[in-house]
Amino acid sequence: MPTARQDDASQTSRLQRHDILFDQVKIGPKVAPNRFYQVPYGPGFGPIKPLTHALYRSIRAEGGWGVVSTGITDISVDSDELPTPTDRLWDAADARGLKAMVDGVHEHGSLAAIELGHMGSNSVTWESRWPAVGPSQLGSPLIPNTTPKAIEHSDIERIQADWVASATRAADNGFDVIYVYGSDSYLPSQFLSPFYNKRDDEYGGSLENRARFWLECIEAVRGAVGERCAVAVRIAADGMGPMGIDIDETLAFVRMADSMVDLWDINLGTDWDHDSGSSRFFAPGYQLEWSGRIREATSKPIVGVGRMTDPDQMVKIIESGVLDLIGGARPSIADPFLPNKIRDGKYEEIRECIGANHCTMRAIKGHLGCIQNATAGEEYRRGWHPESYAPVADGAQDALVVGAGPAGMECATVLGRRGVRVHLCDKAGALGGHIAWMSRLPGMSEWGRITTYRKLLLERLSEVELRLGSELTSEEAMNYGADIIVVATGAAWSKDGLNPFTHAAIPGADAEHVFRPEEVITLGAEFPGDKVIIFDTDNYLMAPVTAQHLASSGKDVEIITPYPSVGGVSDEMLEGPFTRAQLHENGVRMRTDTMVGSIGSNTVQTDYYGDEAEVAADAVVLVTQRLSDDRLFKELNAAGDARSKAGVKALYRVGDCVAPRLVSDVIFDGHRLAREIDTDEPATPLSFLRESRGVVA
Ligand SMILES: Cc1cc2nc3c(=O)[nH]c(=O)nc-3n(C[C@H](O)[C@H](O)[C@H](O)COP(=O)(O)O)c2cc1C
Ligand code: SF4
Repeated sequence: MPTARQDDASQTSRLQRHDILFDQVKIGPKVAPNRFYQVPYGPGFGPIKPLTHALYRSIRAEGGWGVVSTGITDISVDSDELPTPTDRLWDAADARGLKAMVDGVHEHGSLAAIELGHMGSNSVTWESRWPAVGPSQLGSPLIPNTTPKAIEHSDIERIQADWVASATRAADNGFDVIYVYGSDSYLPSQFLSPFYNKRDDEYGGSLENRARFWLECIEAVRGAVGERCAVAVRIAADGMGPMGIDIDETLAFVRMADSMVDLWDINLGTDWDHDSGSSRFFAPGYQLEWSGRIREATSKPIVGVGRMTDPDQMVKIIESGVLDLIGGARPSIADPFLPNKIRDGKYEEIRECIGANHCTMRAIKGHLGCIQNATAGEEYRRGWHPESYAPVADGAQDALVVGAGPAGMECATVLGRRGVRVHLCDKAGALGGHIAWMSRLPGMSEWGRITTYRKLLLERLSEVELRLGSELTSEEAMNYGADIIVVATGAAWSKDGLNPFTHAAIPGADAEHVFRPEEVITLGAEFPGDKVIIFDTDNYLMAPVTAQHLASSGKDVEIITPYPSVGGVSDEMLEGPFTRAQLHENGVRMRTDTMVGSIGSNTVQTDYYGDEAEVAADAVVLVTQRLSDDRLFKELNAAGDARSKAGVKALYRVGDCVAPRLVSDVIFDGHRLAREIDTDEPATPLSFLRESRGVVA
């Protein structure tokens, strides 16, 4: 509960109404320096990259997050998520790795938290080759082809002993807050949920019995750490479906456990998709509808989440009394310095998360990355600090950046921050490149933050001059007077249906009724026909959002794709199921495992495992693959001597005009070049530090 103010607001340009965010909060025996709480999330570094992990977390503490947590940290050998590396506290060696994080977080005056957990029947156990364990022998709904061993009493004793051993190690290593984590369909929630738990002993049946396993774990951990640490429990306010329990049972559980718990960390759902809800489907603060009710059952401090980046919204939530601490996972990835920027009144510098969940996809695959923050995950291995930019080694130079899409904007921003005089040009009259039209598609408005954040910075950087609305020829670019030219001219969707399945154009794609996605936006109400076929070999969001746009303007839309599901790439961004449900609700048909062989005047010819058919179509949209717009780069490259004579010392290209990629990758590319513009060979990325080097002679 609030005790005292951490700093003096009169020393800053912070709005007084935000002062409340800088109250200290007592959490059991510990005191958080403010109300900003970096909740548990796994960046995919795991025990194999302890230094990467330590610096990553300590930078969040440096940026003002008063509590900084690990992600889920496995307590037992039958709980692991490989090939996704999660944290681990199986033994003393794991503890030593995590100690570096504790020290880094403490150095900045923040509390260090550790989320101890067990995945139960949703464990992969790829490494240990033990069977997964669950309350009952029921197949995992999250990990295909996994059926657990039904937990015996000896397993309960073993797992609870592991929890105590891990908690003791964590306390010995200086962690301030110890979780007995059960949310998100992990083992304690599995016991709590009748979906997973069909036991007929004292651990199954009534809510009291289903709660027994978790309550015993909390009691054992409390007993082990005493008042050395705060004990936190993370629980989903509502399971959001049949796999979990509803808000009423959650409230009942909170009442049962409350006397042993110092902090309640509340999130949502059992499938992660509702918890890290993407901006296409969930607005900032969306979890409050459920998490806001936990106060009914406890007067202990509560932290809640839901992509909160707006200080006014945060203040409203705190003043309403439903939360005591503002939790942030993605907001802390996108802007590790969010709390300090609010503290110092630097509101315009806040790098707001756009909720596209490239972070979840990258963490699952083994190393975090972020659209808005190219430094996320690069703090240790490349030495990139999110708010610190070394001046260029060889003094001020003039750089011409051609193309003001995501990569060009990022490159220009970082070059400007490093003291390079930058001219950022684009043939379009506004910044943003393809984000300008993409963010007008349904559910995509938060993607506009890619541009708005950088626009504010670029306009404030005295080193940067914007020249928008006129296209530069290669001649003009060469003679612009720049020492360096960076081409960032982006990419465009293929016009002729070139695709990864045939590596050839689609016959008939040159007809007038065949369009590219950007033309759907440009044409607006003029888009012809009633029945529209979208042929999708991209498998990410472009086909679904285009379909959604057309369906909402009354078209009869069908997506045809050779992939087994529409929007498959979005699954790891946690929006695949919502995408397909939304299309279904809006009458968009999805024909999967099907190729389009050719396009006729009012049909497309399809092939489903050798069965050919004709499908009616008044109009066709091709979402097949993008192609780099590298004409300017090639012309400048070919100019050779003429380019040197014009005084251009170096020519580079970044982003989609090198290879069309995810926007997180092209922003990274622009950032990387600007960070390394004064190295011997800027075009080639410097090697990065690796923590696992195999056998050392
Ligand atoms: C990359 C990533 C990894 C996550 N890993 C965990 C985890 O290990 N344990 C956990 O309890 N929640 C995890 N979460 C969920 C977050 O803690 C949080 O509940 C969710 O993202 C909603 O908060 P936000 O809107 O502030 O991101 C993860 C989220 C992200 C984005
Ligand atoms: S990748 Fe996207 S969703 Fe994740 S933190 Fe960055 S901006 Fe937010």
